[in-house]
Amino acid sequence: MPENTLSITDNRTGKVYTVPVENGTIRAMDLRQIKSGPDDFGLMTYDPAYMNTASCRSSITYIDGEKGILRYRGYPIEVLAERCTFLEVAYLLMFGELPTEKELKQWVYDITHHTMLHETTKKFMEGFRYSAHPMSMFVSTIAALSSVYPDAKLVRDPKHRMHQIIRLIGKVPSIAAMSYRHNVGFPYVYPDNDLSYTENFMNMLWKMVEPKYVAHPAIARALDILFILHADHEQNCSTSAMRSVGSSETDPYLAVASAASALAGTLHGGANEEVLKMLDEIGTKDHVPAYIKRVKEGKLKLMGFGHRIYKNYDPRAKIIRWSAEQVFEVTGRNSKLDIALELERIALEDEYFVKRKLYPNVDFYSGIMYQAMGFRPEMFTVLFAIPRTAGWLAQWEELMNDPEQKIARPRQVYTGSGEREFVPIDKRVPVPIPADYPTR
Ligand code: CMC
Repeated sequence: MPENTLSITDNRTGKVYTVPVENGTIRAMDLRQIKSGPDDFGLMTYDPAYMNTASCRSSITYIDGEKGILRYRGYPIEVLAERCTFLEVAYLLMFGELPTEKELKQWVYDITHHTMLHETTKKFMEGFRYSAHPMSMFVSTIAALSSVYPDAKLVRDPKHRMHQIIRLIGKVPSIAAMSYRHNVGFPYVYPDNDLSYTENFMNMLWKMVEPKYVAHPAIARALDILFILHADHEQNCSTSAMRSVGSSETDPYLAVASAASALAGTLHGGANEEVLKMLDEIGTKDHVPAYIKRVKEGKLKLMGFGHRIYKNYDPRAKIIRWSAEQVFEVTGRNSKLDIALELERIALEDEYFVKRKLYPNVDFYSGIMYQAMGFRPEMFTVLFAIPRTAGWLAQWEELMNDPEQKIARPRQVYTGSGEREFVPIDKRVPVPIPADYPTR
């Protein structure tokens, strides 16, 4: 029997099947041959929430959740955070190698010269309600760019794809900043090509009447580090959305809007805003034990804790804790940090969290840091979406170059009725309405 195979005995028929094992996986399609009889469709796997299914081969991001390791293209996240700029990392994600000086210069130039939005996009944004959540505006405006760039539909053309990738990475900070300015009622600020990616973003957010916005270098660097940490995270919910939607060959603006929609959820990128709400609700350090008690009773979730993959400390959270100290030296200590540290201390000693391997994730400290830097909580998920756009697009580019990929189309286990006789409306029996059904 070849070594790298798996033998499966079907106890329904007594037949034995041998399927190859490659990279620690078997191909789900190899199970289709396993049938209990001639009418049987063939065996499938049932895996709600993709707990144990690899949907692609990828050479972009590596995570070892047990050991707390995260690498982009083989480089440890700690090294990239210390030695690179965000755009350098975006290049690495996209092209697989760190850029030379010349390549980086060209890349930065290209991205910088695509930060401007079409005036109609600005007008589109002006139409949002004054109180619109920045993340809703961000998602909708990205989708609206599909109408501005009809050439984006040419997704099988690598040159066109790269053009949209550069446009998207260039424009997401501008859209994010305009979402913020709209939300607070300030006039929009146009990009300034003299500034770095993060400084320009800060300029578009916070410039008031001064002729030239000057970002505090420590804050700009901290934001750049946060962007690096959030740039990619292999096949998470939003990246899977990007790949799934992109697999239908829709244009990248619509696919990125879908990915950003997935990110907006409170269990994913929306968690950073929720952490701040939670810390506000707790109020003071001495309320922490009572809050933890409610979490253990199953009444609440500790936002910013737990991860599907990390069963050890999230390496990004460690870097954020370190980076937060640098920010606090400039801004002063955020009082919420003490509550967060106490929450972490108690949780890490508690059997409930230890048993379930629940550790702080990237969202636990990022919100506190963002707030100290001057961001409003409504902006936190948008701040996650800006750098993740580079990751989504690198994953999309990989998808488009993967000959094994097709339109994503999972199977289901049907649990409904068999074929039924049609019931005319006057013969139908009323179904009891759920108590919480909204009535007019
Ligand atoms: N607080 C309290 N209990 C938790 C938490 C939490 N934050 N997370 C998981 N658990 C419990 C959960 O109730 C379950 O307990 P039991 O075995 O008794 O039923 C056990 O731990 C396993 O949890 P799970 O829900 O099966 O784990 P999952 O892999 O499906 O969910 C998660 C992962 C991140 C959605 C979840 O941990 C969570 O909801 N965390 C809070 C939201 C959050 O911080 N999200 C950001 C994730 S990191 C950044 C990103 O991806 O955007």
